[in-house]
Amino acid sequence: MAEVIDGKSVAEDVVRSVKALTAELVVKGKAKPGLAVVIVGEDPASQVYVASKSRTAKECGFHSLQHTLPAETSEAALLKLIAELNADPAINGILVQLPLPAHVDAGKIIQAIAPQKDVDGFHFINVGKLGTGELDTAFVPCTPAGSMLLIERVRGKDLSGLNAVVVGRSNIVGKPMASLLLAANCTVTIAHSRTKDLPELARTADILVAAVGRPEMIRGDWVKPGATVIDVGINRIPAPEKGEGKSRLVGDVAYAEAAKAAGAITPVPGGVGPMTIAMLMANTLASAYLAAG
Ligand code: GUN
Repeated sequence: MAEVIDGKSVAEDVVRSVKALTAELVVKGKAKPGLAVVIVGEDPASQVYVASKSRTAKECGFHSLQHTLPAETSEAALLKLIAELNADPAINGILVQLPLPAHVDAGKIIQAIAPQKDVDGFHFINVGKLGTGELDTAFVPCTPAGSMLLIERVRGKDLSGLNAVVVGRSNIVGKPMASLLLAANCTVTIAHSRTKDLPELARTADILVAAVGRPEMIRGDWVKPGATVIDVGINRIPAPEKGEGKSRLVGDVAYAEAAKAAGAITPVPGGVGPMTIAMLMANTLASAYLAAG
């Protein structure tokens, strides 16, 4: 059976380090890191994520600010808020929770965030730095950054020559994940809904990353024996209409089957999920260190 990768525990380690380094900044008389989280509308999943981000920021000793705006907030009002946060020296990180309501151009909002405060790593400047291997000064998107940390925990830092298959090509996870694995000298394939013979391709992977948002799509017989399986999916399966069952969370990987073949695998929940928030804290701290000089 596979080693279960305990993302919750690794995330706690990261948060503990961030907290200690924040305390050091404050002892040196520098301003504490400031994180502004913006949420528009009432998507229940987004509300849970945002509350968790704000809570963890406080736990780290950050100045934590949350702007909760109604669904009908105009694009102009949102752009004005971003401009204010860009200009506020107490704020080092700005995160606008996605998805945004349809009447707002999410791309325009993201590009309005100052690149040096873009702790999500979604601004073209940060995307470009990641794509060109300027990893020292790029903000890397939190979910792939956290996934990379988990991969290094089980495989060590030298991933050179390993075959990596990333299933999913989103800007938030799939593409930046592929860039990180490439920067680590893996041979990387990005698969997606039009990929032919996906099970066969997946079986070539020493590192298999699933980020498609389709519950339990990746089956046990797609997994190469000994592979490291990183499941980024978080899918809520509704409770059955009759009987005792409750709704439950599952990943993009059929966990029980895949765990029989894999060398190591992340569970859902408790795998990649907690790492996303931990890396957001790490990015905000890094931004504050840069601003403090
Ligand atoms: N929605 C889902 N994941 C993310 C994320 O990593 N950042 C933001 N801003 N919104 C999200």
